Amino acid sequence: MTLRRRFRLAKMVGTRRISKRQHTSFYFVLTFLLLFICILFIEVFFVEENNPMEFSIFERLGWKKDTNKEIVLPPHVARELARVITDAVQEDLDVIVNLYYDAVVDETGALGNKNVDHWQPVRGTKDKFLVFSAYYDDRRVQLIRVIAAARTRNADKVMCKFWFADGYSSTTVPAFNKLIQENWNLKYSAYFVLCPLSKALPSVPERVSIITSENAEITNWLVVHNNKQNVTSPHGIAVCVKPVHYDYNKLLSFIEFIELNKIFGVEHFILYNDTIGRDVACVMRQYMANGIMSVLPWKLDMVSQKEIRTEGLFAALNDCLYRTMYRFRFVLMIDFDEFIVPHKSDSLTEMLEVVAKNKPLKTGAYSFQNSFFYLQWPSDAKSRSLPLRLITLEKTVRKLKFHPHKQRSKCIVLPERVVEMGNHFVWEFLPGRAMANVHSDIGFLHHYRICEFGGNDCINTTSRVDRRIYRWKDQLVQAVQTRLKDWEFICNFFAVSADKKTSLLL
Ligand SMILES: *[C@@H]1O[C@H](CO)[C@@H](O)[C@H](O)[C@H]1NC(C)=O
Ligand SMILES: *[C@@H]1O[C@H](CO)[C@@H](O)[C@H](O)[C@H]1NC(C)=O
Ligand SMILES: *[C@@H]1O[C@H](CO)[C@@H](O)[C@H](O)[C@H]1NC(C)=O
Repeated sequence: MTLRRRFRLAKMVGTRRISKRQHTSFYFVLTFLLLFICILFIEVFFVEENNPMEFSIFERLGWKKDTNKEIVLPPHVARELARVITDAVQEDLDVIVNLYYDAVVDETGALGNKNVDHWQPVRGTKDKFLVFSAYYDDRRVQLIRVIAAARTRNADKVMCKFWFADGYSSTTVPAFNKLIQENWNLKYSAYFVLCPLSKALPSVPERVSIITSENAEITNWLVVHNNKQNVTSPHGIAVCVKPVHYDYNKLLSFIEFIELNKIFGVEHFILYNDTIGRDVACVMRQYMANGIMSVLPWKLDMVSQKEIRTEGLFAALNDCLYRTMYRFRFVLMIDFDEFIVPHKSDSLTEMLEVVAKNKPLKTGAYSFQNSFFYLQWPSDAKSRSLPLRLITLEKTVRKLKFHPHKQRSKCIVLPERVVEMGNHFVWEFLPGRAMANVHSDIGFLHHYRICEFGGNDCINTTSRVDRRIYRWKDQLVQAVQTRLKDWEFICNFFAVSADKKTSLLL
């Protein structure tokens, strides 16, 4: 079993590297984690929802378990863990943290990544051809929609091999490659590989493999997600972000992004892991353990910006569209430096209720205009007394003029009504659905960044002060502080340098 192997590995690392005192600490932590993991297994696999047993087990062990599936360490355990962890050396800490979180079952039910979608090759093609995930889509015709990346021009013809449950034998059908339109004229593009499903099939396939010929070697094996089957009606709001790259490690901005969106009413975040810095990765694992975040591996074997646009972001955005479909009612497609901010309502939830009253059947997505809050502009004097330097509270000067819709605008989509997603607008809706442009009085995109054309020329553009975010100031500051405090020890944020703490908490 993977878990057991990991334990052995962790033990080996422990034996080799750790001095005597740390050695003891390391085993203490391992024992503690083993206990924790056991409890997690019990909870996930053996305890039924609302079983009165569940509470007695948790209560006796002192665990707090709330209705959001959130598992919180009791204070005395957290304190003990913190004490031991500060003693352990950094590398061992990383082993421990990884060990701990690999055991956390993610929302797809997969343990230790076995069933989690990831990029897999198609063998026998003339050029790179990779596949990531597969979704059952019966909105117009019945098909399996595979998220892929392949040559922009003359992509290889491929076939879909369906695998069924219940011992039905596999079937192969020719596929159709549908180019995802935004490709910036690079060698490779994101694609939908469409596998038609005939009525004669025994059921929706459980898995699909993309192959070049009937008897080709199977080099990929995708779970067919059938969200529709499992969800009664979509509800709530999710956020999708393009692949996280360049060892992204802006700890404070990241927590600010998550917490402010949560205050706005967002329930789940879907992220893609190209490369992530250490502190942010640790925080992500905490959010994953709380069930509000999914982080999918994103190791796409193509050179970003030379071969494919920004780590294949269009594949990620469209994967996210289908991943959230039937599960969430509204989905935001934004970056970490962008916030869709309601300017009349207290939350996105409230704002969307209001805008959804207008043309409820026709609307497939809402577009929000972009406004730059250039980082070069001076920080708000009001932010000086804050205990944390949060960008949305510091930067309150914005460019007066909004960009028109479709230029740098971002969308909130109703996934069931969308076929193909772009970065700033929707490329294809289902028939009869269309974009609704939301007026900037109601809400718009706050975009916190440096001048977009380099240099400092942008700072002379006409601007105005916009303190809208101060509406949520106390909540936001408190939420971020709580997260930092809760996770300071488990993530050992300040291990690398003491200065880091000072600069972070200034
Ligand atoms: C639907 O849910 C069941 C159990 O809840 C799970 O076993 C199955 O894999 C899910 N189906 C799909 C296609 O996601
Ligand atoms: C990101 O991917 C790397 C492997 O490429 C993995 O080691 C790391 O744990 C992942 N981080 C998260 C937060 O998923
Ligand atoms: C902005 O305008 C001022 C006054 O017109 C000028 O002195 C300054 O050089 C300008 N700054 C930039 C970065 O263009």
